[in-house]
Amino acid sequence: MSSKPIGIFDSGVGGLTVLAAIRRLLPHESLIYLGDTARVPYGNKSAETILRYAEECCTFLAKKGVKAIVIACNTASAHALPYIQHRFHFPILGVVEPGVEEALRVNQSRHIGVIGTFATIQSEIYAKELKKRNASVRVSSVSCPLFVPLVEEDWCDNEVTLAVAEKYLKNLGRDGMDALILGCTHYPLLKKVIGECLGPQIALIDSAEAVAISLQKCLALSALKASDTFEGAGVELYVTDLTHRFETIARRFLEGDIPEVKRVTL
Ligand code: DGL
Repeated sequence: MSSKPIGIFDSGVGGLTVLAAIRRLLPHESLIYLGDTARVPYGNKSAETILRYAEECCTFLAKKGVKAIVIACNTASAHALPYIQHRFHFPILGVVEPGVEEALRVNQSRHIGVIGTFATIQSEIYAKELKKRNASVRVSSVSCPLFVPLVEEDWCDNEVTLAVAEKYLKNLGRDGMDALILGCTHYPLLKKVIGECLGPQIALIDSAEAVAISLQKCLALSALKASDTFEGAGVELYVTDLTHRFETIARRFLEGDIPEVKRVTL
């Protein structure tokens, strides 16, 4: 069982930030990544549709024989995590809780910002999870719907993206804020531009590392961790529509060497 792969999915390229962090921390694990590129973005879809897409992605990964799944998508984590956890009999992790814990760890001022897709911000999942752990924390959030298509286009650092970021982040009441949760796995690709708008006094919280650590703990607790001597670890990449940008970004994240990206129908 422990030599089985771990499934990771996102609507597109964003979850590759999580895949890369997991690969760094758990080099002996085999990983299967699914990017639902035919249906990206999820962030402007209804809760019912997001739930259905998430279930279809998990069913695909379950058929591949995975031992655990990481929902490397905030939108799907916000709307589908408890449902998916009941539906499948192996561990399923989302990205919201690790991001929340990390933000509370670094934040001093008790004012935390959250940016995410429309569906994630509307769900208020971050405000609820932050306040559950610390009732006095102040949360300001804004949705940034154009960020995901810009990242999928690989426009991560140009004047258009900077102008879009400035416009969105102007609407975030930032007085006394010292941490901003990047509540979408696509957004770490925009760290440079977001950092330029906000300045160095606001820490950008990217949950990828925190998710990898949660997964490590979860595998150890469930006796599912691959042996440190396991040599068969590899990465498989699947998408629901083939785009050359996916390959370009995957190559950047996986440092050059990527396996063939296979197109699948869910
Ligand atoms: N990267 C995803 C997220 O974390 C999905 C973005 C989208 O498809 O809208 O929310």
